[in-house]
Amino acid sequence: MKKPKISVIGVGYVGLCTAVGFASKGYTVIASDNVAEKATKINKGIPIFHEPGLQNLLEEAVENGRLKCLINQTEKAVFDTDLTFVAVGTPSNSDGSINLQFTELAAHDVGKALNKKDAYHVVVIKSTVVPGTTQDIVKPILEKESKKKCGSGFGLCMNPEFLRQGSAFEDTMHADRLVIGEYDKKSGDALESLYEEFYGKNMPPTVHTSLSTAELIKYASNSLLATKISFINMIANLCEKLPGADVKVVANAVGLDKRIGPLFLNAGLGYGGSCFPKDVKALIACSKNLGYRLSLLEEVESVNEVQPLRAVEFCKELLGNNLTGKHVAILGLAFKANTDDMREARVIPIINQLIKEGANVTAYDPVATPTAKTIFQNKIQYANSAIACLKNADCCILVTEWEEFKKLTPADFTKNMKQPILIDGRRIYNPETFSKKLKFTAIGLGK
Ligand code: UDX
Repeated sequence: MKKPKISVIGVGYVGLCTAVGFASKGYTVIASDNVAEKATKINKGIPIFHEPGLQNLLEEAVENGRLKCLINQTEKAVFDTDLTFVAVGTPSNSDGSINLQFTELAAHDVGKALNKKDAYHVVVIKSTVVPGTTQDIVKPILEKESKKKCGSGFGLCMNPEFLRQGSAFEDTMHADRLVIGEYDKKSGDALESLYEEFYGKNMPPTVHTSLSTAELIKYASNSLLATKISFINMIANLCEKLPGADVKVVANAVGLDKRIGPLFLNAGLGYGGSCFPKDVKALIACSKNLGYRLSLLEEVESVNEVQPLRAVEFCKELLGNNLTGKHVAILGLAFKANTDDMREARVIPIINQLIKEGANVTAYDPVATPTAKTIFQNKIQYANSAIACLKNADCCILVTEWEEFKKLTPADFTKNMKQPILIDGRRIYNPETFSKKLKFTAIGLGK
């Protein structure tokens, strides 16, 4: 059977991984993005962000003509293909609610293309949108612009994406589950058969549901994961008040309970990134609008707001209250390892607070330094290696759990720092070994 042609609107993490994923399996993919620079880079086979596993397949897809990216030509991309994934950004408004301007713009253009098409076409919303968006906002726009009825004239699905940055491509190719929110059975079945062909024998378990349930599943998943993180960070803060307690041991043992599970119980400096902070806020705002207060999630957020500042408190405890003129080394700028993304990175409030307290900050990250330069400009120094970062420092804060930082030994700190003081914000070092050689403290470690 001839493979359907796929269009992807918006080439952020979700869009680009979807586009490259389908192209790598032999589909013809036409993407469109309203940022010309992104499209130009993609057409040269250059990824627009650091993501393991993506570069070669993107290059290959562009070279063999399976993937091209248009600049702001949603209509053309949709017209020339059989099924469309909409993966545009859904940023936050200043009150935390979701901003749907790009989703609406895309829906208008997709609708215009549908108006010119005779063949049945399925539109799949992949962007994270609050419950009700696909049914109450996207569908009416599509119907108005296409002058067709949803169901008979075109298909509509909501298919949330659960990929993680740093393993985005791998997650796209091997999903834990597929959630297919469908306007009608015909739309959902069309999307399911596309995925059956895509995944073959490795077809993930699939849930068919309504459009708004699919939308809520994405928010419920991210909110629960964020809750696990804030929960364990709260326990970590308690551990610090209990001599001999260690949150890592607590988390390991708690995670052995099959009902709880071991994942997302790593205590640290809080969650960042493009999803958890934004999605928790958007769900709180959406629910508030519906007259229900998500008080548990409000608390998840508050814990996450103060957690990074624990690192600065540790600094003050260890260096004396006055940080003026103290030289602080920061290892890790990205919001997590294997990415250059710094959106909502926990290092941002940490560095801002250190600067406010008069400290001199030098930072190093294997890939995120160019991003950091756009945020901090010349307010901090940037080192070219972990060792260079440690040189003459009074204190070091480990912020991101990069593999190369895990390999550092106590000697790397003692030999290079002015005072060997280390704050492990992600619990990557063995407290016993490190405490013997340097002044060592860590999140969730009782004194
Ligand atoms: C997340 C979801 O995992 C993914 O399913 C969704 O599609 C998008 O949002 P991502 O933001 O890429 O993915 O990163 P993730 O690995 O989930 O980590 C998010 C943040 O939580 C990071 O700042 C990370 O450091 C932090 N985290 C994660 C912890 O502090 N402790 C943990 O145990 C796990």
